[in-house]
Amino acid sequence: MLKLDLTNAKLKEDLSTYQTKVSEAHRWLEDKTGAGNDFVGWVKWPVNYDKEEFDRILKLKEKLKGKYDCLLVCGIGGSYLGARAALEMIRGLYPTDGPEVIFVGNTFSNNYISQVLKHIENKNVILNVISKSGTTTETSVAFRIFKQFIEKKYGEEEAKWRIIATTDAHKGTLKSLADKKGYEEFVVPDDVGGRFSVFTAVGLLPLALAGVDIKELMKGSLDAMNAYSIESIEENDAYKYAVARRILDKQGYTAEMFVTYELQLTMIAEWWKQLFGESEGKGGNGILPTSACFSTDLHSLGQFVQDGRKVLYETLLLIDEMPNDIVFPDDDENLDNMNYLTGKNVSWVNKMAQQGTLSAHADDGNVPNIEIHLKDNSAYSFGYMIYFFMRACGMTCYLAGVNPFNQPGVEVYKKKMFKLLGKE
Ligand code: PA5
Repeated sequence: MLKLDLTNAKLKEDLSTYQTKVSEAHRWLEDKTGAGNDFVGWVKWPVNYDKEEFDRILKLKEKLKGKYDCLLVCGIGGSYLGARAALEMIRGLYPTDGPEVIFVGNTFSNNYISQVLKHIENKNVILNVISKSGTTTETSVAFRIFKQFIEKKYGEEEAKWRIIATTDAHKGTLKSLADKKGYEEFVVPDDVGGRFSVFTAVGLLPLALAGVDIKELMKGSLDAMNAYSIESIEENDAYKYAVARRILDKQGYTAEMFVTYELQLTMIAEWWKQLFGESEGKGGNGILPTSACFSTDLHSLGQFVQDGRKVLYETLLLIDEMPNDIVFPDDDENLDNMNYLTGKNVSWVNKMAQQGTLSAHADDGNVPNIEIHLKDNSAYSFGYMIYFFMRACGMTCYLAGVNPFNQPGVEVYKKKMFKLLGKE
């Protein structure tokens, strides 16, 4: 399902020398005894998830069938990126079936909000607002605007079923608002932090409403949980990746570039950046998570990777089977001199670009390359891959002596902003 290849990683230490440390951190994750242990509910979530709530999601999807053509998903950070990453990876960028899905609440851009308001004027809209804290300002600003749009367009009574809230089970502003308004509610579990919450209602509800097979997605997460709950580095690819990151860090690489060769994986990279950046970047430490989509970015960042300062290594996410291949057509005139590719699949061209680039960057440019091969872009594979990265992230942060599950740095901008906004 998922294969990790460290052939070109240029590691100067043997992975197995980290086994004692990995075993210790493994216990922290398994027994909830490490730093941030209040937030490791995601580790066993693929078996422990709330089955009743899962059924309620499927029932709601059935109940709302045919009643909307546009789904607004209002949230930011961990309450946004996972669902968007899944949707784009699984459905592609221009899906021809299922509702249109528009993400809001992830920006203060008045320009964006006005564009969306105009765009949805004549659409049949429902809205899922997602916030664990229930007080995130970006989400709250957008929610008030889109809530009023819905109430004005359909009336207060109809807004009750058109708006669905995903938030804390017991407390918070959004929770009390939803109670008062009579919205259907779903839960962000106490022991699962935002960026680890894709497998909860945070990700599952919008995905189900958009037509993604969430049973398959959870099956993928469960199989990955079983594969990556093994203590031995030798037998656990998530731990191998976690250790490889620590070794490269020690070798002086301060940035990791997450590389894909499919535009519909760009949001996977954004999700990955949040996962590693927010979990690891603390106390003056951490590898800067950055990303590129090749070959597009070979014509921009490619120069730096090949020939610039040697600060980064690449982690490639390669999907072995993508749908919708195209055969390059023949052209009698051949005015563009492209007939040398006639009859070839465009996927083959992409693969050759990837192989050539790997050799150019790793062999000629001496840039370490980690390869992650995923079978396909199905919901199952998405679930499997997400768990792989979450498990690797927990481990790599513990190995670095960092609590992966808090984000104290994020509060600093909020304090300054609140002061300027005049918030008490
Ligand atoms: O990973 C995290 O914890 C954050 O990115 C949060 O998900 C993000 O700040 C949104 O928070 P909330 O769900 O409370 O609105």
